[in-house]
Amino acid sequence: MKLSVIGCGYLGAVHASAMVELGHDVVGIDVDADKIAQLAQGRPPFFEPGLSEILTSATATGRLRFSTDIADAAGAQVHFIGVGTPQKPGSHAADLTYVDAAITELLPYLAEGDLVVGKSTVPVGTASRLADLITDSGSGASLVWNPEFLREGFAVQDTISPDRLVYGVAPGEAGERSVTLLNEVYASAIAAETPLVVTDYATAELVKVAANAFLATKISFINAMAEIAEVTGADVTQLADAIGFDARIGRRFLNAGVGFGGGCLPKDIRAFTARAEELGRGESVAFLKEVDQINLRRRSHVVDLATAALGERLHDGKVAVLGLSFKPHSDDVRDSPALDVAVQLHGLGADVVASDPKSVENAQAKHPQLRYSHVIAETLQDADLVVLVTEWPEFVNIDPVWAATLVKTPTIIDGRNALDAAAWRAAGWTYTGMGRP
Ligand code: UDX
Repeated sequence: MKLSVIGCGYLGAVHASAMVELGHDVVGIDVDADKIAQLAQGRPPFFEPGLSEILTSATATGRLRFSTDIADAAGAQVHFIGVGTPQKPGSHAADLTYVDAAITELLPYLAEGDLVVGKSTVPVGTASRLADLITDSGSGASLVWNPEFLREGFAVQDTISPDRLVYGVAPGEAGERSVTLLNEVYASAIAAETPLVVTDYATAELVKVAANAFLATKISFINAMAEIAEVTGADVTQLADAIGFDARIGRRFLNAGVGFGGGCLPKDIRAFTARAEELGRGESVAFLKEVDQINLRRRSHVVDLATAALGERLHDGKVAVLGLSFKPHSDDVRDSPALDVAVQLHGLGADVVASDPKSVENAQAKHPQLRYSHVIAETLQDADLVVLVTEWPEFVNIDPVWAATLVKTPTIIDGRNALDAAAWRAAGWTYTGMGRP
């Protein structure tokens, strides 16, 4: 089938390539000419495991094209909208400028029977407003809201084999036709009996923000337990293991540490709160403000631990920061706790040298005031303090005996509870974890 994918960021670039992998003919469209030029040459504009491979093979088939001109969407039967919905500056609400522009600019190129598929995360109520726009244009196209649940680092796998599909459709016959068409696009997932929830627009929109709100709450819950563990001498890791054995709770997303970040969870819980307030139901999700506060406190906690460890050396001591991306296997530094900690320590006067396997350039573009290194040994050399804030295997597997020979003072703060505390202590390090002795 002929598809267009509008917006070629973390979501759209993966989606476009993955749809070719599934046998479709795809045009990827984005306003960013540099991004489009890189993608057209088969080069991913960001790091995502497996993307380079599927992009190369998709380009080789001749069934994947990229363009900056939305007119090139004409002729496709299904149009995916994967543009960003960032946090509005000075507000907690989502900025819908890009979604609105994508739909408005697409309208003249829609034909009778076309399907517009919204994948961006939007405040509840957006899809029905956009559906009206599409209907009023007289194009004869219809809209489905089909939220995307991909995780960065696993985006290719999550797109090709999602754990569930959610379609928010229009009522009646138009909705039924949309389901048939979208099932054709996702034929392999449907054949694999992937759970499918067909629902209305509002539910589909809410599924996405509710899922992210739940995950954020789970992480902040365990981080709240870490705060209690820190004043009682308890071990939050063992606590997570023990409660996680209860199948109703589950162990995943119970890793205490410096907290969550990235382009989704933080802005999505804030946008959800803002939207609920608009709807007069602010109290229903007021707890998400607390979830956000707990999360941000973890960053301050790491900074406080570092300040205490450095003492008078805060103003001239060298701090080696291991990690910049918001999680391993990604080069994304949006709302990254790791980068935030590095910036805060630098702001307090420390001589910060930060390293990351994939995100140095992205971090440098945002915060040129920090010192960066691609080499772990150079980062550790003569450090007064080491702070691990992203649990990349390259950092987790550092030999503590070797590392001790490089630093000035063998003191480490493990902001992700990712290291073997006993091994680091045995190698002479003063080790501090998050909520564990
Ligand atoms: C998230 C959702 O998981 C995904 O379904 C949605 O589509 C987009 O948002 P992503 O942003 O890629 O995906 O990251 P995720 O794996 O959810 O991690 C988010 C943050 O939580 C990271 O900073 C991670 O380090 C942190 N985290 C995760 C914890 O601090 N503890 C945990 O136990 C798990």
